[in-house]
Amino acid sequence: MIIESVNNVQNLVNEVKDEVVKWRRYLHRNPELSFQEAKTSDFVYQTLISFGDLEVSRPTKTSVMARLIGDQPGKVLAIRADMDALPIQEENDFDFVSETPGVMHACGHDGHTAVLLGTAKILSSLKEKIKGEVRFLFQHAEETLPGGAEEMVQAGVMDGVDLVIGQHLWSPIETGKIGIGYGPVMASMDTFYLTIQGKGGHAAMPHQTIDSIVIATQVVSNLQQIVSRNIDPIDPVVLSVTKFIGGTTHNVIPDTVEIVGTTRTLNSSVRESLPQRMEEIIEGITKAHHATYTFNYEFGYRPVDNDHSVTSVIEELANKVVGKQNVIQVRPTMGGEDFSAYQQKAPGTFFFVGAGNTEKGITYPHHHPKFTIDEDSLEIALKMFLEAVFEF
Ligand code: NI
Repeated sequence: MIIESVNNVQNLVNEVKDEVVKWRRYLHRNPELSFQEAKTSDFVYQTLISFGDLEVSRPTKTSVMARLIGDQPGKVLAIRADMDALPIQEENDFDFVSETPGVMHACGHDGHTAVLLGTAKILSSLKEKIKGEVRFLFQHAEETLPGGAEEMVQAGVMDGVDLVIGQHLWSPIETGKIGIGYGPVMASMDTFYLTIQGKGGHAAMPHQTIDSIVIATQVVSNLQQIVSRNIDPIDPVVLSVTKFIGGTTHNVIPDTVEIVGTTRTLNSSVRESLPQRMEEIIEGITKAHHATYTFNYEFGYRPVDNDHSVTSVIEELANKVVGKQNVIQVRPTMGGEDFSAYQQKAPGTFFFVGAGNTEKGITYPHHHPKFTIDEDSLEIALKMFLEAVFEF
């Protein structure tokens, strides 16, 4: 992948940085939900075509891939950006707010897409110097299970790839800093659906019913004991019940209670043990109280698990881009990311580029109606991708 004598990354960045901001604002104004990124992917496709020298394709309906195949043989590096927005009504008041009611780029994916476009533009002008291939993955649907990454992998975008990198603009970190993590940095993200079937009846005659609410509350509280009593405390696990629906009024014991929730882990074997342990508890409690149940456990994203050697190279590059004192080791988060799907196919790393700015009032968390990114972070993100291409 090495390019001989790329003189100055800053000069290259200067050539596109205004355009990257322009693209980011265009995307911010025109957000689209997961799996519905029609306009976004058309925009990305047309923009990539305009650079020339790229092989541009549509691996799935709303994703885009661009291949820059160098004139000399070498490694294949994949770089990923996600493109989808969220079902949130924007509450910002700058002049490029979302023009689509109820939909907003509230996670910075507009910035990711713009930065990867900028990277592709610069590199496509350097084709003759490239050894191997740079593959740009513009992914749909990061925010919604089953996620776009898995679909793209199945469409073959990772075939022949030697390593993969991705970054997230991250408002909890100040602009000018970069967060690096070794090993698992983001959690698996699974979902469960449970229905407790009792026997409804008059609230004044509970003995004639099988009270699904009383049974369901026991199930919920006992599920918490998996985390506190069955799992090694050194292995973080989250088991959250996030929906609990039963009943209609004050004097009727309902037939059923519906429960939905999520589990998060950083360790794949712990993750695989959860559905069975959960079902043992559900089965035991419902059986004891003469109720029945249906239980579905859906595996979602795997943990994002950063390869040690790729991460150490990225850390060195971050030291170069922002200075060693501004490179921080991030603690793992129990949030999920489908970047993990690419890591099943090739070693890779996912890192965090600071995009918050307290002085500018850019402090809102991701997925907040007032979320935004400090646009100064775009330049840093761009430098990281370029440095990575030159290095690998
Ligand atoms: Ni995101």
